[in-house]
Amino acid sequence: MERETGIEPATNSLEGCDSTIELLPRIPSHFSKLPSWHDGTGLQRRISPPSSISGAITLPGDKSISHRYAMIAAISEGETRIHNYSTGADCHSTLGCVRALGIEVEAAGTEILIRGKGLEGLRRPTADLDAGNSGSTIRMLSGILAGQPFPTRIFGDESLSRRPMRRIMQPLAQMGARIRAREDQFPPLEIEGGRLRPIHYDLPVPSAQVKTCVLFAGLFVEGETSVTESLRSRDHTEIALREFGANLQVERGAIRITGSPRLAGRELRVPSDLSSAAFFLAAALLVPGSSLVIHGVGMNPTRSALLDFLVSMGARIRILNLESRNGELVGDIVVEHSTLRGGVIEKGLTAALIDEIPVLAVLGAATEQGLTVRDAAELRIKETDRIRTVADNLRRMGVAVEETEDGMVIPGRQKFRAAALDSFGDHRIAMAFAVAALRADGESVIDGAEAASVSFPEFWETLRACYQ
Ligand code: S3P
Repeated sequence: MERETGIEPATNSLEGCDSTIELLPRIPSHFSKLPSWHDGTGLQRRISPPSSISGAITLPGDKSISHRYAMIAAISEGETRIHNYSTGADCHSTLGCVRALGIEVEAAGTEILIRGKGLEGLRRPTADLDAGNSGSTIRMLSGILAGQPFPTRIFGDESLSRRPMRRIMQPLAQMGARIRAREDQFPPLEIEGGRLRPIHYDLPVPSAQVKTCVLFAGLFVEGETSVTESLRSRDHTEIALREFGANLQVERGAIRITGSPRLAGRELRVPSDLSSAAFFLAAALLVPGSSLVIHGVGMNPTRSALLDFLVSMGARIRILNLESRNGELVGDIVVEHSTLRGGVIEKGLTAALIDEIPVLAVLGAATEQGLTVRDAAELRIKETDRIRTVADNLRRMGVAVEETEDGMVIPGRQKFRAAALDSFGDHRIAMAFAVAALRADGESVIDGAEAASVSFPEFWETLRACYQ
């Protein structure tokens, strides 16, 4: 595959320091269709170690919350105005699907206006729905599609087409939907819903996407649908549904929702994404002399295990200006370079940190005692097999890592060698290894850097802004 090296003249490098993040051609707007990173349009980023990661930054809106607000707004009555909507391509895939279902969406940057038409207001799309790279879009929206009196077909890109869907097909089938999938488990999905019945569903895997899918389908039934989970997964759906007026109770691991509510459009602000902040937390912790403030970050307790885990390893992190907004906790994070002890991620903690494990693995190599990750088989079925893609890139940097079936063991006190790295088309791998490159002994190159746009198109500019 021929890649665009596109290195611009040195005048485009950061000035005033001998180390750089090279500026490269901007990728096309993420509001249009993303370029595929499998078709030879991949971009590279060159990164040299900075003297510190410092300053104050703001990050795009939370991806999980943005998806949910857009989907619920579409089936609510009246206008919903969403501020700070995620700029990530994934959340724009959700908006594309909502539009295709006959809902008017106006997007001006991160300000989104959705004119919802109520629970019965969606229209049969004239073409298949495109979920792009977004597992959240296909899995959560399927709950809504199953409640429609018309059939739909929803597909995704090459990576999404390899991700398992049985986890949502099973509960939806129990509710009475008929779903066909490639090889009975992969997208595209053909969903024939209609009249659904309420169920009680015990989540076999701790998955907020599956929980959401069932709760969304539960909006279209008469009676009460419930979902029980043995490990508490992120609860943005529960919070958002209540904000829009649904009748929902949560009690000892059981979430109960009453069907056919009247959902009302409203005005909401999305907090910045803690999972995006994770890359900057790791960068500041890793690079000596760093001191960084990250404003307005979502601190929902079902997400903030990341902060507890970092603090338990000795990270100097403070939270300021904590407040509640639309039922979600929001605060500013102050982080300073710290020597970290290392630790173990296993059991419930693995589920709580699942999206952050790639960057924590990078951080782990620089800790005193290293990092062990267990019970993380789910990582193998994310956008890439993240155990393999993390281990591959770590090894390219000369970092020792033992790969296990459901995790990895990374010894501590290791040095990062500058290397040619690859995103493998996975946004979190691109960003995790941009962080690793900050601590390398020279200039590293990341291939397929544009993958970051799936959740965080401004990642490279934001990194440049705090790169001293
Ligand atoms: C998400 C839930 C998690 C997470 C994903 C977003 C969500 O997936 O990995 O990035 O918004 O509900 P699972 O629910 O499959 O664990």
